[in-house]
Amino acid sequence: MRAVIVRPGRAASDELADVPAPVMDDHAVVDVIAVGVDGTDNEIVEGRYGSGPPGEDFLIIGHESVGRVTRAAGEFQEGDLVTAIVRRPDPVPCLNCANGEWDMCLNGLYTERGIKSRHGFLAERYAEDPEYLVRVPVELEPVGALVEPTSIVEKAVEQIWRIQERLAWEPKTALVTGSGPVGLLATMLLRLRGLEVYVYDRVSDGPKPELATMLGARYLAAAEADLARAAGGDLGDIDIGIEATGYSPLSFTLVDTVSPNGIVALTGVSSGTRSAQIATDHLNMEIVLQNKVVFGSVNANRRHFELAVDDLARAQRRWPGFFEAMVTRREPLINYRSALERKADDVKVIVEVGS
Ligand code: BGC
Ligand code: ZN
Repeated sequence: MRAVIVRPGRAASDELADVPAPVMDDHAVVDVIAVGVDGTDNEIVEGRYGSGPPGEDFLIIGHESVGRVTRAAGEFQEGDLVTAIVRRPDPVPCLNCANGEWDMCLNGLYTERGIKSRHGFLAERYAEDPEYLVRVPVELEPVGALVEPTSIVEKAVEQIWRIQERLAWEPKTALVTGSGPVGLLATMLLRLRGLEVYVYDRVSDGPKPELATMLGARYLAAAEADLARAAGGDLGDIDIGIEATGYSPLSFTLVDTVSPNGIVALTGVSSGTRSAQIATDHLNMEIVLQNKVVFGSVNANRRHFELAVDDLARAQRRWPGFFEAMVTRREPLINYRSALERKADDVKVIVEVGS
């Protein structure tokens, strides 16, 4: 079968190759329909991240998938639409992996399909233990590849509400930094929960301002709105901050910006070596005297995938046309390289594999 592979650790080693069909065991077989690409895929293709399955010298990339079951297993019948969970428990397993919370793995020995020690989904088909498949309703087929990125945001949002059980809390306003797929999907979840949302990004043109506006959020372009100044009260009270740029200095500004008892979730992966000067006394005092929380959130478990499916369906009914606008390019498998290139007006790019 055809698959997009890389030699992990080697830059620009990607190719569309003919690889052996997946080993089936008692697994379901899924014919891939579409796969979304993201920054992690770019890092893997650049040779900066990722590893192949033990004993193999290549890795099939791709972790944001939607596909159709062609060989039934467990509760899944032929023809069912599915996506697959990315992370798998470590073999030990640690306390959290043993509890189904592999997104909270303690020892780093977890594996991730298409990323770490397991083949991914940017291929014509894959085999999967039904325990790691998640049902996708027919109406979500065109956006099924968004379930995985949405699951990442579902986890962060779930954690915010769980952590805030520490107090009486009626959040009204949120600030999301970054209007890429994660930022926009975070905005979508917060809007579904009835919050006013500000979306802050450096661009002032292209599709992003319009996408935020479609969700009923207020878009702030960096040039006109300085976050640090906003901390002085321009935006009113901010109960929740979600950082989705990975531009690390912004994380600290965001902690400064939220109101007393506020909470900040960091979701951006900053793989560079940037350092900045921070007013540590000020920040420390803000956090202590205002009972603030800042936490990091990565990956997702089954619960978050299931929430993502429900919320994508609700969002599709509430904001028709939003996802069509957010998926700015769809490329056939043969053009996977173009899909991986970041073009100016890209938000989400999806590779079409089958039908
Ligand atoms: C994936 C996550 C994964 C993370 C780190 C992200 O792109 O969506 O599932 O945990 O990369 O590998
Ligand atoms: Zn673990």
